[in-house]
Amino acid sequence: MTDYQVNKLHPLFAAEMLGFDLDAAISPEQVDIVEALMAEHAVLVLRGLRPSDEGHMRFARSFGPLELPPKMSDRPSTLKYRISPELYDISNLDADGTIIPPDDPRTKFNLGNERFHTDSSFNALPSKWSLLLAYETPEEGANTEFIDTRAVFDALPEEMKKRLEGLKAVHDLWGVRAKYEYGGAVSEEMKRLMPPVEHDLVRISANGRKALYIGKHASHITGMDEKESDALLSELMDLATEPRFIYSHKWRPGDLLIWDNRCTLHRGTTFNRFKDRRDLRRATINESGPETSSTGALMSNAAQ
Ligand code: OGA
Ligand code: MN
Repeated sequence: MTDYQVNKLHPLFAAEMLGFDLDAAISPEQVDIVEALMAEHAVLVLRGLRPSDEGHMRFARSFGPLELPPKMSDRPSTLKYRISPELYDISNLDADGTIIPPDDPRTKFNLGNERFHTDSSFNALPSKWSLLLAYETPEEGANTEFIDTRAVFDALPEEMKKRLEGLKAVHDLWGVRAKYEYGGAVSEEMKRLMPPVEHDLVRISANGRKALYIGKHASHITGMDEKESDALLSELMDLATEPRFIYSHKWRPGDLLIWDNRCTLHRGTTFNRFKDRRDLRRATINESGPETSSTGALMSNAAQ
């Protein structure tokens, strides 16, 4: 039997789990335990994985195939790999380990993570979990905040729950980037390579509870007039971001956070990003293979 301990971190969701040796090969029994804890808590904090890209990827692949970041050949030549190309680099560091300046394209993308989103909702392939491992973390700020959208769904008035039934939202990588983050023009070619996708607005999550599937990439509701759609999405986001739904994680080096992208939202919070070093690395897994990057054909690291 595997011995472990679970402590709740928030009244509605999120737990920390202690007692697993994360560096050892994970057994089928341990996989089942983590799957069950994730289905219940949606966000899980684990500690004690000896930081290495190989160990991180091995652990992540026990739960599903990796969603790969865009390939290096598609990135501007100034963006060299600091870490394994199979992991997302969620740091403010350059390939040589120095802090990236304000005018670096990655600064814009990092700031984009400060809007509530769920990873890769603009992909047709369903993203299952993200597994974010902390190497270096600032003393001040730079928490990551999480929302359980099952709890948000439960809190909706019954008539709103009925209204949402059967609705689909369009998730678009370009909408929000063109508006706030990307800066440059979005070409027809970019739109063709990464077209908007549709997802159910309400999903059944791993433990059977209904969850809202929203966030910054959800641009509009299919077939709904723009004003009505904007008003509905804002209303849902306003409710979701009420403080009572938020768990805010203060990072410590060595923390491994796993979240279920299908029933949570998250965002980074601000910090002194041009002075304090922050080195986090993310493995993202899909529900099914193949291991691929849907944004691989695109320029830049536009896939966070
Ligand atoms: C991510 C992300 C937020 C943060 O890694 O997907 O959104 O706090 N991170 O770095
Ligand atoms: Mn993210």
